[in-house]
Amino acid sequence: MTTTRTLSADSTIGAWSQHPVGSRILDGFAAQAGMDAATLAMMRNLPLSRMLGATGAPDAEGVARALVAQLGDAGSQSSDEAGWRERIVPGRFDGQTVVVTGAASGIGRAVAARIANEGGVVVAVDLSEQRLGELADARPEGAIRPVAADITDETAIARVVEAAGGRIDGLANIAGLPDDFSAIHEVSDAMLARVFEVNVFGLIRLTRAIVPVMLEAGRGSIVNVASEAALRGSSAGVAYTASKHAVLGVTRSMAFMYEPSGIRVNTVAPGGTLTGMRPPAVEGFGASRVRSFSAPVPIALPEHLAASITFLLSDDGVNVQGAILASDGGESTY
Ligand SMILES: NC(=O)c1ccc[n+]([C@@H]2O[C@H](COP(=O)([O-])OP(=O)(O)OC[C@H]3O[C@@H](n4cnc5c(N)ncnc54)[C@H](O)[C@@H]3O)[C@@H](O)[C@H]2O)c1
Repeated sequence: MTTTRTLSADSTIGAWSQHPVGSRILDGFAAQAGMDAATLAMMRNLPLSRMLGATGAPDAEGVARALVAQLGDAGSQSSDEAGWRERIVPGRFDGQTVVVTGAASGIGRAVAARIANEGGVVVAVDLSEQRLGELADARPEGAIRPVAADITDETAIARVVEAAGGRIDGLANIAGLPDDFSAIHEVSDAMLARVFEVNVFGLIRLTRAIVPVMLEAGRGSIVNVASEAALRGSSAGVAYTASKHAVLGVTRSMAFMYEPSGIRVNTVAPGGTLTGMRPPAVEGFGASRVRSFSAPVPIALPEHLAASITFLLSDDGVNVQGAILASDGGESTY
């Protein structure tokens, strides 16, 4: 159905493609940028400005302004009312301290920002001190406690626990690495070790250090971030797929072990999300097999994942224990 909704740079690609004038402008841009209809369809939930940013174009803001200007009288004053908007729940994390790993980028950053905006104190863990500083600077004093730390390093883990100051209500295990899509006959020892060290052993070691604080308090909520690759064999290589299946095992073991102690443990399995994580540029047996199976569902924003993760982390998840929540726009139904 054709609509005449007004458009701006914040309107989604889906809204632009449904608009009688916007769709012609978008198609013209896509043709120039060499984007086919299937690629545009996968971008349909992304605001125009974010989609342009993801293309790596040198002046994405300027391009967005130029596209909006082409609308002329067709309207660009109001925002896209039908598009999804993050709705902050004031006070949902009031008085709580939540440790978030991978907080300097993508999904972790969106989760850290949302918790801070909802009243919580975030112990924000990542490798990059500079990017953590940018996150903290954009928030009220004290809402983000940046800790530059590698979750595979026991000394760094001790600094994370210390930064929490004796209180940890939640833990979001989000830091993770992709693999190179290698199938098992071509995977290197280095790739196996790197991916398991961060995605599995780092997650376990950090959690092992934090659970005693939650046991002492008799409460806590942990969300482990897995992936589509934890639900099927067709979205990554053997190292990443096996590592994310291991995350489900960690979740189920912990949910059983700590249910009587008041600690909830759940997993969110994201599908394709617009973050710093990029598919590898390598070619090989596994990479060509995986690429031929990509599901035609829209790419998500990190904020979409933050909505799922903070739901389970917060007291809204009160009755959810050991769940594996696919937050993937339906990717796992293919
Ligand atoms: N982006 C996707 O399409 C997608 C899909 C499914 C699952 N995931 C999962 O979501 C999680 C977040 O990924 P993202 O997409 O936001 O990627 P991202 O690259 O934007 O962010 C990951 C962050 O983790 C940090 N990190 C990596 N190793 C670390 C370590 N040893 N110690 C501390 N921090 C470390 C990185 O510095 C980075 O800032 C990952 O676990 C990833 O496997 C992502």
